[in-house]
Amino acid sequence: MMAPLGENVLHIQHNSIMSPLVWDLGHVGNFEEVWLLRELDGRPAHDLAYDEMYNPFDNPRWVRGDLPLLNRTDALEYINGVRGDVLEMLRGIDLDPGEPLLRDGFVFTMAIQHEAQHQETILQALDMREDLAPYALASPRRVPAGRSVDDSETMVIPGGPFLFGTNNSTEAYDNERPSHEVEVPTFAIDKYPVTNRRFAEFVDAGGYGRQEFWSDEGWDWRTGTEHEAPQGWTRQVGGGWLVRRFGHVVDLDPGEPVQHVSYHEAEAFARFSDARLPTEAEWEKSASWGPDAQEPRIYPWGSASPTPMHANVAQHGWGPAPIGRYSQGASAYGVEQLLGDVYEWTSSPFEGYPGFTSFPYPEYSEVFFGDSEYRVLRGASWATSTQVTRNTFRNWDYRIRRQIFSGIRLAWDEV
Ligand code: AVJ
Ligand code: FE
Repeated sequence: MMAPLGENVLHIQHNSIMSPLVWDLGHVGNFEEVWLLRELDGRPAHDLAYDEMYNPFDNPRWVRGDLPLLNRTDALEYINGVRGDVLEMLRGIDLDPGEPLLRDGFVFTMAIQHEAQHQETILQALDMREDLAPYALASPRRVPAGRSVDDSETMVIPGGPFLFGTNNSTEAYDNERPSHEVEVPTFAIDKYPVTNRRFAEFVDAGGYGRQEFWSDEGWDWRTGTEHEAPQGWTRQVGGGWLVRRFGHVVDLDPGEPVQHVSYHEAEAFARFSDARLPTEAEWEKSASWGPDAQEPRIYPWGSASPTPMHANVAQHGWGPAPIGRYSQGASAYGVEQLLGDVYEWTSSPFEGYPGFTSFPYPEYSEVFFGDSEYRVLRGASWATSTQVTRNTFRNWDYRIRRQIFSGIRLAWDEV
């Protein structure tokens, strides 16, 4: 993913809310060194200065540009050295010991997911740039067309209990556990993510200038910025919209899920549509439960790992794919494109589930619980690795953020 990028592109701090890309690179190496070599095998630190430089808490994103970061060659040498040592160590390792970090390979899965999440962060930084087109865009239209759908169709999810979260302790993060029964009253939910066509109606109706659709905080955000459309949109002379994607300006496809909206924009769009955002429990029930379910599904379609017929994930398409192309990825309730394309904002703040215990370190999730500025996003984006893609995965970010690959799905109280 970094191969086509020039060294200078890796060192630039593309935006103050993002890291220079070489920080992510060195941080991934340091994370793997700390967890796989030092925690598991008691090895000494490679260089204590790396621990400081690549610690996200000591170095907020806006200062990372000033650190003496490793360049690409040195960072790759560091990562490859760590991974070589890990492979060596794996020869003699027992994955079923009393050590919870090792059970079923937990810590290795964690390291893989960690790198994958940073890949997504790197892509977010590059997608903010107007003057840099590092990638030839692949077409996301991998699944044959031939199905035209109503982008405003909704599904009713009947009230009743479901099993929220998981007890999986290999792939899942601590914040997805434990599994617990939750009663969810009847509600309706969009069958598809909100499309560009629908969102453009809000923009064209003057939605960005009409305070009645925005919360107080949302209106403060709106009036404190110049944003009058999702990130990357520009109005085309003579009508219609163009969108910037990794520096390429292309026609906005009205059938694709809207991408790069903040929570505030999602919420204002919901109010404009006489709807609301789903809660996390509603979102997950739509994805993992069904009319006759006894057990939650890992993916909306069942337990088979995602393929390009199920979902637009794993950087297959370099952008969201038009709705209607993933009928094979439907949930038991018939809701589509829950995983892939865009993460979807929910109305839920980020909290631990009842009985939460931090594992293996509080800095992954626990330290973020209870900050009222965060909202949970659910699903997966087109850039999410298959190892991070699952119904129970919880993403979170500040309500003002929209550089992430974020979109919308609306919900309604019983109709
Ligand atoms: C789960 C995406 C919010 O990037 O802040 C990466 C993932 N945690 N390294 C983030 C993460 C530690 C995290 N998010
Ligand atoms: Fe990290």
